Order: sequence, then structure tokens, then C-alpha cells
Amino acid sequence: MKSIQTIAEMREALESKRAEGAKVGLVPTMGFLHEGHLSLIRQSQQECDVTVVSIFVNPTQFNDPSDYENYPVDLEKDLNALEKEGVQFAFLPHAKEMYPANRLKVQMTIPELTGNLCGLHRPGHFDGVLLVVSKFFNIVQPHRAYFGLKDYQQFLVIRTMARALDFSVEVVGCETVREPDGLAMSSRNARLSEKAREHAALIPRALNLVQKTLQDRKAQYSVKCAELCEIAWDVIESGTQNRVEYMEIVDPDTLQKLDEIQKDRTARIATAVFCDGVRLIDNRPLQF
Ligand code: PAF
Repeated sequence: MKSIQTIAEMREALESKRAEGAKVGLVPTMGFLHEGHLSLIRQSQQECDVTVVSIFVNPTQFNDPSDYENYPVDLEKDLNALEKEGVQFAFLPHAKEMYPANRLKVQMTIPELTGNLCGLHRPGHFDGVLLVVSKFFNIVQPHRAYFGLKDYQQFLVIRTMARALDFSVEVVGCETVREPDGLAMSSRNARLSEKAREHAALIPRALNLVQKTLQDRKAQYSVKCAELCEIAWDVIESGTQNRVEYMEIVDPDTLQKLDEIQKDRTARIATAVFCDGVRLIDNRPLQF
């Protein structure tokens, strides 16, 4: 595996590969890799000839400076994991390489997709994600780029940006990988105390309960979303230190909030929860 730190070197290394007709896959990450990241890497390895994994804790997407400072880092472990997976290129730019101090700031935004869920609660977050991902698309020029559906809003925002800017990349969304008790894999899970980790498992349980409730209401024509969200909210918070930031049922394409779910319509339930101060997100499709 080749570790590369500069944009020029990354471009040069891929030029010859592309000239040979190689399909390039990109897996952008912020490091502290877990099984969720490895599943994206494995899918890229299967579908592409060359896989580039970027590790960059992107400062422009953190609206809370302490969240940025506390973001877990273990580069040595990450590089060992990438070697083991047979990844060809690790792209490890420094912040100064990605954002030289003497440049004017560019802002990217998709207001229609970022007015609720994480977009509402983390102002500027998706602008930062869009900026860094579009830079990676431009530098790596991948045929395919892989993102986890745990960050469902992020996936939609990036796919919309890639289409709007005519990047010739296929943005691929990959299923969430979960711990045995259902908790979605996340680098932030490492920051949970034992008790908070136990209570975090209530998040997927609550979302699954909403799907089950829908199934139990099959005789109805529609179900009110507020009622379903309240059920999930209670399961997560009662008897714990968990604090739900948001719990919403949305249209899976537009992310607009739904008031009710109607028969034969699909929807997505999404939540963000502070488990003893650690912010976790999860979502799942709903079928009625
Ligand atoms: O999902 C992430 O880890 C980040 O938001 C991403 C896509 C690597 C951009 O920094």
C-alpha cells in the first residue's frame, strides 16, 4: 500500500492507473476505522480495480470545536487495517494541504436537503462535508465512491451534489453495519462509557419497534408520525441518561418531514441521540 500526503502526488499516482483503464473506487473516511468502513472498502475492492481510502478529520464539517478536538484518532491501527484489506492507496492529507491559509473560502450548500435532521441541528456541517467530498472527487476522480447509509442525509446530500456538479462518479450507499445488539458501528462508540454503551443499544431497538408498530396497524389506512416518534423517543430516554436531539419520519428522497405514513408508502425514520454526551445517529427504512 502506498501512503500519500499531497494532492499532486495523489493525482500523479492515479493518472497512470486510469490510463491503463483501471476503475478507481474511493472510500472517504475520517479514520478510526471499524467494520462499517471495512465493508465499504471490501465493496470497492470487489467492484473496482484500485481502491483509494482517504483518512482526513475534516475541520470544516465540525460545528462544535470540542467534537473536533475529541474525535478519536489511531492512524497506525488504521494503516495496518488498510494493508490487511489489500488497499492500494491511503490518502492522508494534512489540513494545510486541503485548506491552504491564503485561499478565499468557498461555500457549498444544498438548502432543500439540509433544513432538518442533522442539517438543522449541526449548522454548516453539510456545507463542510460537501466541500471536502467535492475536493476528493476532483483530486481522485473516482468511478465509484462509497458511503455508509448510517449517515443517510449525508449520502443524499453528496449524491445530489455529484449529480448537480456533473462529477462522473457513481455515489454508492452501503448498508449500515451493526454490533450484535444492533448498535450502528461508529467511531464515536469508542467514547461511550460502559453504561452509556448499554443504553445506546436502545436506539436501534426503538427504531425497530416503530416498524413493528406499523406492521401491527396493518388494518389502518394511515398512522400519525408524531405517535410513532413518541414511542421511539420514550424507549430511548426512559430510565437512562440518553437525550434525544431529534426523532423524525421523513420522505426517503426529499427528507421532508411526514405527518403520517400511508399504506404502501415508504418512509425513513431518523434520530440523533446524546448518550451521556456522545452524539450518535441512526435511521432505518419504514414499510407500511
Ligand atoms: O462520513 C464521514 O466520515 C465524513 O463525513 C466524510 C464523508 C469522510 C467527509 O469528511
